[in-house]
Amino acid sequence: MAKPRKKRSSTLTSPSMQILRDKDSMRAWSRAQKALGRTVGFVPTMGSLHAGHLALVKEAKKRADVVVTSIYVNPTQFGPNEDFTEYPRMLDADAKKLTGVGCHALFAPRDLYARSGPPHETWVDVTDLTQTLCGSARPGHFRGVTTIVTKLFLIVEPDVAIFGDKDYQQRRVIQRMTRDLDIPVEVVGMPIQRDTDGLALSSRNARLLPDDRLMALAIPRAIAWAQDAFAKGERRVKVLKKAVREQIEASGPRVDYIEIVSDATLLPAKGKLTKPAVLAVAAYAGDVRLIDNVELR
Ligand code: PAF
Repeated sequence: MAKPRKKRSSTLTSPSMQILRDKDSMRAWSRAQKALGRTVGFVPTMGSLHAGHLALVKEAKKRADVVVTSIYVNPTQFGPNEDFTEYPRMLDADAKKLTGVGCHALFAPRDLYARSGPPHETWVDVTDLTQTLCGSARPGHFRGVTTIVTKLFLIVEPDVAIFGDKDYQQRRVIQRMTRDLDIPVEVVGMPIQRDTDGLALSSRNARLLPDDRLMALAIPRAIAWAQDAFAKGERRVKVLKKAVREQIEASGPRVDYIEIVSDATLLPAKGKLTKPAVLAVAAYAGDVRLIDNVELR
């Protein structure tokens, strides 16, 4: 687990949105909504909200009567050498953005792991879908994600939860987890939202230096090239992967992985593509790790 960082004080208030700072008040709020016959939509985030997150909130509003967004930078999904400390935190600005799109409640817990008494020792593990892509590149990452999302689901008790498909593997893993554990929530994926220059929206983009941002554009360009090549009939996995790698590396980003996986199993596809697949990329522009993907079907 990455080290918790020092808390900053915040004067968090909103005239029209409930702001809940602890799990008991969050659960009570959700239950009160349900007692009034309302369905609860949920958008879990780690904050530093951008238009992609706000699109998730808008989608949740279409699917449920009231919407909760959570902001919690979860230490257990970051490895010891990852960017937990640098992860952007801007709670007041985020609250304003959520108020602007009519989110009904913000759950911004100060902490979600036991601070006193025996240490946290219970984990949720989705075993197979996490063997590849970010699961193998970031050991322990998905165990942290599935554990915190389970905790959030148990606190918020949503009817529907919306996840962005930039984190395609995450959405699939959470859908499998809710099915396997009979957690009564519908998990919905939303298409990747892109900036006008094509870069997939991500909270980490805020950390890109101008030159690194320019070089990062090689990632969506290479992905768009692969999608086009696939549409024109290219089915050879090796050819697609090699060309995507060359295009990205030629512009500067350091590739963490480029993989084409079966959509059904998320295991690497081999030979020629005959079934729906996903091309997924993780690469560093400067010291910022970015991910992106496209379905090949
Ligand atoms: O996608 C994210 O922002 C996080 O992984 C999530 C789902 C909020 C869990 O911490």
